Amino acid sequence: MKEKIIIFDTTLRDGEQSLQSSLKTKDKVKIAIALDKMNIDIIEAGFPISSPGDFKSVQEICKNIKNSKICSLARCLEKDIKIAAKAMSKLENFRIHLFLGTSKLHIESKLKKNFKEIQNMAINSIKIAKKYTNDIEFSCEDAGRTNINELCQMVEILIKHGVKTINIPDTVGYTLPNEFKKIISTLYKRVSNIDKAIISVHCHNDLGMAVGNSISAIQAGARQIEGTITGIGERAGNAALEEIIMAIKTRKKLLNFYTNIKHKKIYNTSKTISKICKLSIPINKPIIGINSFSHSSGIHQDGIIKNRKNYEIISPKDIGLKKIKFNLTSRSGRAAVKYRMKEMGYSKKNYNLNKLYKKFLKLADKKGQIFDYDLESLAFIKKKYIKKKYFKLKKLKIYYKIPGKTKILLKILCGNKIKKINIKTKNGQINGIYTALNKITKLNIILKKFKIKYKQKNKNIFCQVNIIVQYKNKNFYETKLDIDIINTSIKAIINIFNNIWISKKLKKINKI
Ligand code: KIV
Ligand code: ZN
Repeated sequence: MKEKIIIFDTTLRDGEQSLQSSLKTKDKVKIAIALDKMNIDIIEAGFPISSPGDFKSVQEICKNIKNSKICSLARCLEKDIKIAAKAMSKLENFRIHLFLGTSKLHIESKLKKNFKEIQNMAINSIKIAKKYTNDIEFSCEDAGRTNINELCQMVEILIKHGVKTINIPDTVGYTLPNEFKKIISTLYKRVSNIDKAIISVHCHNDLGMAVGNSISAIQAGARQIEGTITGIGERAGNAALEEIIMAIKTRKKLLNFYTNIKHKKIYNTSKTISKICKLSIPINKPIIGINSFSHSSGIHQDGIIKNRKNYEIISPKDIGLKKIKFNLTSRSGRAAVKYRMKEMGYSKKNYNLNKLYKKFLKLADKKGQIFDYDLESLAFIKKKYIKKKYFKLKKLKIYYKIPGKTKILLKILCGNKIKKINIKTKNGQINGIYTALNKITKLNIILKKFKIKYKQKNKNIFCQVNIIVQYKNKNFYETKLDIDIINTSIKAIINIFNNIWISKKLKKINKI
């Protein structure tokens, strides 16, 4: 029979520790709600002694969570334990998570104590924590580098004094999967009362082993895994829970475990966390990176069209992604272009695939990535319309009166008419230009992303603007590289307006 793996999330504690600035209470509550909706078993809400803000966040989280158990971290000190318990006092059931270094290095050079003193500190703190809750977790900090005999001895004592969950952290991400597995199996062999507690693991990713080590640990007997969604955490991070959850699901026959996690919520939760924490998710990040379910090479795209299983071990739907598009580049084959056109509702009879593919390759070499509206205009719009830009910049003048007050004069050629607009803005030049262009074109676009990056080429610095706008439920993308922010931004926005104009024309032609 499959056994359950308890999922313990520490995004709001270990994860938050690693951010450049701490999170506001309302943002922590938002993350906690997302984790709760995912059915995370235990949420480590914070380290209440660390600041009044953290204390308040834990209190607020306790008011807003429906299913998950809430846990707070405390050192083996009475004041920490009291504050942790107070922060969670509105709840009937909560967990206190105590931690203390057990490796020789931590005991001697950080805590300036000996092993016996550490044992006494641990026993004492358990006694204090028991006044508030029966659910005590104890972490033997730096367990990965702790002498195995001393670790066994420590775990035995902790369980004897009533600790229900013993956490074995690889605090500095030092161990390798076989080595970590051996630590856990040795505990199971040598600790006489091990059946009275749950063994948990908490692996850091300094050598990129966090997920591998966690999986090895459950194969050796651990039944709780700690980590964070997206893998954020001290230094190189904690084990990425989404990877562990999906590994357990995908390799269920081999692993013989299950989790209670609603995996379809993974993608949205990771988005919430990355947005609130202002951390972008690398495109190749397993499970949640945008490339994880997108196929680029012609051979792979063809294989996927024939049978998704050829190149997909997880269905994107399983993590809550609705629709996956191919990344259309010059490496894409004819099959992918045909497939995408079909997905957009065009049958083979509507266009000439050979001609379209030729044009597609040419544009893809120039542009990099090809979007739906590019494909449509290549297939249906005469070249002269594409070449002849409908909107053209004729004049741009920016007047500064006093800081914060800007006047903008803009002349734009719209077809064969020149339109002029004067605009006053308190919100900066780019905002002013964007508003003016929206008024002139009357297209009323919604700006979804506006990102400015600087790039150095030889000795010059260039500006790159990436924009995504929404026009009538369709997204339009543009990337422009030019000499300065104003030039680059206006060119990028005007290009987008031209693409929208072509796409509007196309609608008329195809009556769609
Ligand atoms: O990495 C670690 O050892 C920790 C403990 C507090 C569990 O974060
Ligand atoms: Zn940690």
